[in-house]
Amino acid sequence: MLRNIKLHVEADYAAMSKKGAEIFAEAVRAKPSAAYGFATGSTPEGMYAELAKLRAAGTDFSQMTTFNLDEYYPIKADDPQSYYFYMKQRVFDPLGLTKTNLPNGEAPDPEAECEAYENKLANAGEFVMQILGIGNNGHIGFNEPADRFVCRANYVPLAPSTIEANARLFDNPSQVPRHALTVGIHSIMMAKRILLLVSGAGKADILAASLQGDITPSVPASILQLHPCVTVVADKAAAAKL
Ligand code: PGA
Repeated sequence: MLRNIKLHVEADYAAMSKKGAEIFAEAVRAKPSAAYGFATGSTPEGMYAELAKLRAAGTDFSQMTTFNLDEYYPIKADDPQSYYFYMKQRVFDPLGLTKTNLPNGEAPDPEAECEAYENKLANAGEFVMQILGIGNNGHIGFNEPADRFVCRANYVPLAPSTIEANARLFDNPSQVPRHALTVGIHSIMMAKRILLLVSGAGKADILAASLQGDITPSVPASILQLHPCVTVVADKAAAAKL
């Protein structure tokens, strides 16, 4: 493993969630009013529940500013499938956060919204920590496998593999949005520290390809090999091929 990548292998999903929460909360205690990057998806749900427990036990998360990686487009914020809705339910309300930012899935012009979000990111100052998950296809945010890395926030068609993976969360696969707004690779790479959570045997191959394979835009997470400080918290099943 490259020496910029610190790997924690935990027994199972619950232990991964707890470890991830400990690492994140420690960063927030050291810099309570800094900017932090958040991710959605099934993987960090357990960690967010653990963070809520840490709040109940006295950790104050309320001063931080948060930026999410991505949002479906178009989607209304109050749609239960929106990432805004996910964050409000699992993170913003439980942790008492008010200085929160996501790309706006209701913006009239998606390209202009990406530009506006990019400007917000540029003015946010240093991100102390960026939470990440990894897609089955190696995406980070909605930076899907492609011929090149895209630096800036962008409006993207979702890869068929992502639509298929996310269909489990919808009543009907035809309801999965076909597009999204995502931060680009640049803002992910600018975070001082990356906290990558990975769970399950289904992610073992892509995690190994990302951390130990070629650095290529066809595996977007492979760019993390060039980041100076990556902490990976994986359960045993996800770490099996490392
Ligand atoms: P998942 O998504 O946590 O729901 O597997 C991860 C991702 O797509 O980044």
